[in-house]
Amino acid sequence: MKSLYLDYNATTPVDPAVYQVMAPYFVEHFGNSVSSLHEFGWKADQAVETARQQVAHLLGCRPQEIFFTSGATESNNWVIRGLMDHWRKTEPQFKPHVLSSPVEHSSVIQTLNWAQRAGLLDVTFVPVDSSGKVQVEEVKKNLRPETKLMSFMWVNNELGTFNPLQELGKLAHERQIYLHTDATQAIGKTKVDLSEFPVDLLSFSGHKIYGPKGVGILYRRSKNPSVQLEPLLYGGGHERGQRSGTVNVPAVVGMGAACEIVAQRWAQDVEKMMGLKKQLYADLKGHFPGLRLNGSQDLEASACNTLNLTFTQQQLPGQIPGLAVSRGSACHSGSTTSSQVLKAIGIPEREAQNTLRISMGRDQTWEDLSRVAPLLKACLR
Ligand SMILES: Cc1ncc(COP(=O)(O)O)c(C=O)c1O
Repeated sequence: MKSLYLDYNATTPVDPAVYQVMAPYFVEHFGNSVSSLHEFGWKADQAVETARQQVAHLLGCRPQEIFFTSGATESNNWVIRGLMDHWRKTEPQFKPHVLSSPVEHSSVIQTLNWAQRAGLLDVTFVPVDSSGKVQVEEVKKNLRPETKLMSFMWVNNELGTFNPLQELGKLAHERQIYLHTDATQAIGKTKVDLSEFPVDLLSFSGHKIYGPKGVGILYRRSKNPSVQLEPLLYGGGHERGQRSGTVNVPAVVGMGAACEIVAQRWAQDVEKMMGLKKQLYADLKGHFPGLRLNGSQDLEASACNTLNLTFTQQQLPGQIPGLAVSRGSACHSGSTTSSQVLKAIGIPEREAQNTLRISMGRDQTWEDLSRVAPLLKACLR
């Protein structure tokens, strides 16, 4: 029997409806979207602009505020490096300060660490609470007159914890600080409406929302405030001169279609997955004494599809036959390193080794999930 896939926070399959929309753009409509002298180019350009509208519709923003990238990693790098470059150009003597957290994705943390090492900015990673949530009071305590950017993820990829984005955005805007959020794990799991959330920059990825891999989004607010950032990639001037590189038209078309589907079904998906998450947690609790939930203790207050669980009375083997999930620690060349996120919420190494992240998909059924406990039982010592 095929392994049961419960690692949807790592990646999702492409929705067959998305794949169908993408397919003609590989072979038939293969034009370069910047070829403005013939119909091959026009067809590709039209498809890219339709996708931009679909993304903007999902986010409740204007199409011209959307830029296509190669993924959330690039979008996160672009925000930090693009802002830094802009500030360096406009205020060469000024060293900006950035606030972020230790539970961000490595594409945020490592870019900030690189910039700090290079002496280009100062960074404070504010501690999070035991559920992995950023504390607004901690953020306030660490504000400086030079603070120019806050970068806090919307939903944590390992714990499913939500950050208080409304409050963070309000605080940021009172101080004329930009708020960037990595919303990679938020799309499809909550309402992401930028007409309601005071976010200035937002990143996400196609392959976490049933779109293709290798395509991402950067949203950049154009009014109140109008955010200025320099390009990360220079070259042929694609994406209105902001992101050079021939546009990956099939992937962009797929991103647009994936966003359109999310816009139609996210609310029903959330309700269904939340019910299944509660049922699965109750089932596992019944089977495994000492099972501990990490992150928010209120199941309703974290992402509908994510359970982060530590087995305190049993030992998990390196791999769980028949079950495709993520672990709280990874083995590299014989040594084990536990997740930075679990470290940041105070989970010791030996517990991280006995920790699993189960992340469900939107088409999950209880029939699948009822196999989890027996599969775990079969391999636990
Ligand atoms: C929260 C978060 N940010 C960024 C990324 C990176 O996304 P991409 O694979 O599109 O570069 C991921 C993927 O694991 C993620 O979970």
